[in-house]
Amino acid sequence: MSSSRNMSRRDALRTGALAAAGMALAPLAPGTTLARLASAVQPRLEPITKPIPSTGERIPVIGLGTNQYSVDTPEEMAQLQEVLEAMAELGGSVVDTARVYGRAEEVIGELLQRMGNRDDFFIATKTPIRGELRDPDVEIQTSFDQLKVETLDLMLIHNLHGVEELMPAFIRWKDEGRIRYIGMSTSVDGQYAAQMEGMRRFPLDFIQVDYSIQNRSAAEEILPLARELGIAVLVNVPFGGRGGGAASTFGRVADLDLPNWAAEIDAESWAQVFLKYVVSHPAVTAAIPGTTQVRHLVDNQGAGRGRLPDPALRAEIERFWDGLE
Ligand SMILES: NC(=O)c1ccc[n+]([C@@H]2O[C@H](COP(=O)([O-])OP(=O)(O)OC[C@H]3O[C@@H](n4cnc5c(N)ncnc54)[C@H](OP(=O)(O)O)[C@@H]3O)[C@@H](O)[C@H]2O)c1
Repeated sequence: MSSSRNMSRRDALRTGALAAAGMALAPLAPGTTLARLASAVQPRLEPITKPIPSTGERIPVIGLGTNQYSVDTPEEMAQLQEVLEAMAELGGSVVDTARVYGRAEEVIGELLQRMGNRDDFFIATKTPIRGELRDPDVEIQTSFDQLKVETLDLMLIHNLHGVEELMPAFIRWKDEGRIRYIGMSTSVDGQYAAQMEGMRRFPLDFIQVDYSIQNRSAAEEILPLARELGIAVLVNVPFGGRGGGAASTFGRVADLDLPNWAAEIDAESWAQVFLKYVVSHPAVTAAIPGTTQVRHLVDNQGAGRGRLPDPALRAEIERFWDGLE
């Protein structure tokens, strides 16, 4: 169960326009706390969802990446709890993590237990990225134990490591109802051919792949193949990746006002432009921008509301980007 502290925040968030049928979010100033999110909510639209092709279940198009969630201190844990609380309050649900992200699975497991709202989230994780694998059942169970969950919404084989050993176990755990969806994940162009082979060979519900305005190579083959085969796509590193990639993406537009066409897609920040571009690709089911900050979480969730670019505006966004210095 949520604490009374959380309930008062929830109450604050649900006042006024937030309780109305539709809403959208404006970007927040640095230092914004969850209790002040209500002021950022404007009456507009519900979160956009897309269907997972293998079942038709719909998920919100903007999720959360957690490769920076390997934290220890109470202060760091409290900050990440605020991010997850805000996500649930704002109707987001897909949380992506992985065994390779240090303590991230354990941190998320601890926070889900504290918040008592595991069912608000669609939890995705991945098997080890390197090294000798233990028994596949042990590898899978380790993630369940660290995340403290009875079922996982999605489990992915990470960077193709151990596909042959792990895939039969993935299929069995799915048949037993403990993993709801199975898939494969990469963010490396050099692995696309092998991932596409896996998409043809195995009964995958999802793939995860990198795609952003500054790195569109997935759109050449792997995204069209996912669409053809009816496989859902989670997009990782939608800003280009923590560190250099995202810094470079945001850096290129740091001194620029939003173009007039941003209003046509209800984008109020560059992050929202970039995310709306990604999730408007017809093969993409959802994107998982990584953040440790509530104000960025709110900004990103805002991209999952309002209008998305149509093919003509997508092409214009690409021309705009390619024309930057
Ligand atoms: N092989 C794979 O399967 C694979 C590989 C890489 C990543 N992933 C997954 O994909 C997720 C996303 O990748 P990523 O986190 O590396 O890169 P990303 O989502 O492209 O970018 C994250 C960076 O952007 C910043 N940011 C987030 N929202 C922002 C906003 N609204 N305005 C300005 N800056 C913003 C974040 O900083 P703050 O924390 O300060 O917000 C962080 O530095 C990962 O967390 C992970 O779950 C999977």
